[in-house]
Amino acid sequence: MANRKYIVGNWKMNGLQQQLSDIAAIAAVAAKHDNVDAGICPPATLIASANAANPGFAIGAQDCHFNENGAHTGNLSAAMIKEAGATYSILGHSERRADHGESDEDVKAKAEAAHAAGLGAIICVGETEEERDAGQAVAVVTGQLSGSFPEGADASWLTIAYEPVWAIGTGRVPEASDVEEMHAAIRNKLGALMGEGSDAVRILYGGSMNGGNASELLAVPNVDGGLVGGASLNAEKFGPIIEAASAF
Ligand code: PGA
Repeated sequence: MANRKYIVGNWKMNGLQQQLSDIAAIAAVAAKHDNVDAGICPPATLIASANAANPGFAIGAQDCHFNENGAHTGNLSAAMIKEAGATYSILGHSERRADHGESDEDVKAKAEAAHAAGLGAIICVGETEEERDAGQAVAVVTGQLSGSFPEGADASWLTIAYEPVWAIGTGRVPEASDVEEMHAAIRNKLGALMGEGSDAVRILYGGSMNGGNASELLAVPNVDGGLVGGASLNAEKFGPIIEAASAF
């Protein structure tokens, strides 16, 4: 499983009904490359229609609440996004950690709630530029991973995304050697956290991945795919990343 590349588009707060045609075009590219697992996480308002229009293409969510239901105005439960047609959710993205104060504990609880509802979970971790400059990148990221790590995790439903905060939406990408070091550290930590089966957990790289740099990033040891923001919004940009992944 670990050698099948996994390419996920994170649409963030972008996309109205009009953009469903972009998801259809992306799904058409993905269908031509069936050695790659590809998916799009649109805003929650598009999950149901994107799922209905693209059978067999993996639609995900960008977040879910850790509680099953209750007085949480504006939030969506894992069961709700699943019922809408999502099969997995991004959790603990750095924008949610920063904008909504999500802690490692919250992310862990969200992942457990997602799994309990039958969803896959993509847990995001990543250091800020200050943390990297201070030489703390590996310690910060492995610390986030330990703190966010769900009970009973298994490669069948858990994916990790390493997203250096300073590389998100900036056009800046770490050196391949830095990506290699971090993904190896994450792989080691997964071994310590879950023992057997940890090698099969896919570790995605995210942060300014595009059609021009995807091949190089995806060739780095322990990079099992990509979590892509800006370059996932249409097939012209996202298609070449899926194609790059299909060459592995
Ligand atoms: P980016 O975003 O590809 O636009 O840098 C990645 C992400 O935030 O998941």
